[in-house]
Amino acid sequence: MNTFLKYHLIALSFIALVTSAFGQEQKIIRPGEIWPDDQGKHVQAHGGGIILINKTYYWYGEERSKGLDTAYRYVSCYSSTDLVNWKFRGDVVKMSDPENLGSKWVLERPKVFHNKKTGKYVMYFHLDNKSYKVARVGIAVSDKPDGQFTYVKSFRPLGHESRDIGQFIDDDGTAYLVFEDRPFGFRIAKLSEDYMNVEKEMSLIKAHMEGGAIVHYNGLYYSIGSALTGWKANPNKYATAPSLEGPWTEFKDIAPPGTNTYGSQSTMLIKVAGTKSTTVIFMADIWKPSTQWDSRYIWMPLEIGEGKLWVPEPKPWSLNVETGEWKYVQGGNTINK
Ligand code: GAL
Repeated sequence: MNTFLKYHLIALSFIALVTSAFGQEQKIIRPGEIWPDDQGKHVQAHGGGIILINKTYYWYGEERSKGLDTAYRYVSCYSSTDLVNWKFRGDVVKMSDPENLGSKWVLERPKVFHNKKTGKYVMYFHLDNKSYKVARVGIAVSDKPDGQFTYVKSFRPLGHESRDIGQFIDDDGTAYLVFEDRPFGFRIAKLSEDYMNVEKEMSLIKAHMEGGAIVHYNGLYYSIGSALTGWKANPNKYATAPSLEGPWTEFKDIAPPGTNTYGSQSTMLIKVAGTKSTTVIFMADIWKPSTQWDSRYIWMPLEIGEGKLWVPEPKPWSLNVETGEWKYVQGGNTINK
């Protein structure tokens, strides 16, 4: 090969690499793989939560990029109109230890609620010390979805221990916090009118579950969660109830138990109600405790209905947020379910 041709080929492959990493629209959700944001960097929104504001989705989560200042805890914010292409909106929280919790203090599983009456964005998160003995929620508030969020206070919801938290917004807009109360179980509680407090218990499900999430689908409530095995994956389970107050069924597997939920842990259920179909997405974390910046996500559309819930084997898929329809994709082409 002559030198001229060689340099041209090198230049061309460099351009191809750069354009594939930046700014190019993605169409496919690839469970378990690196998920590039608009800057080509892997999305850092672990243990996250998603809200929809005027056709824009906001994804908040634990920012665990390599090389962050270990004195702070960071929460990232991304936005998207299609749930596939995510624009990095910045770290909306950069917080130093707010309650004298000591080194290795913990801020995990941030969840943001938008209060229509006050106009405020209210972030809840799990606040703890390194041995996870404090077991409180923290609250930070912002006037905008993309921050900055200012720390307000911490407390134990309704006086109970609270470690992993989840958020649930019902079809009528009512906001609930799901929290893991180690001595007793899985609690679901309604937020106060301004969202600055946890006001009313709806249910105590006497099962030791974390990574809690809920969806309201075709008249039934489905709650999911994982067992208490820290960063290690386990078989996640679900229960159903006709109302948030119960009665809740026994918990059943959401995936073949031998796969430990395909190596992931639940964090949220997202309902996409489109013009033709409603798809519920299982949103989970594949944790990599010693290389947390490389922790991945499993997002899969659920098989759900009539009291049954199942996460199909993770494979690339695409979603149309307008119609609510989804399809498996292979090699860039769409194939039937
Ligand atoms: C998990 C929990 C994570 C994190 C981890 C620490 O069970 O879901 O959010 O707290 O334990 O070991």
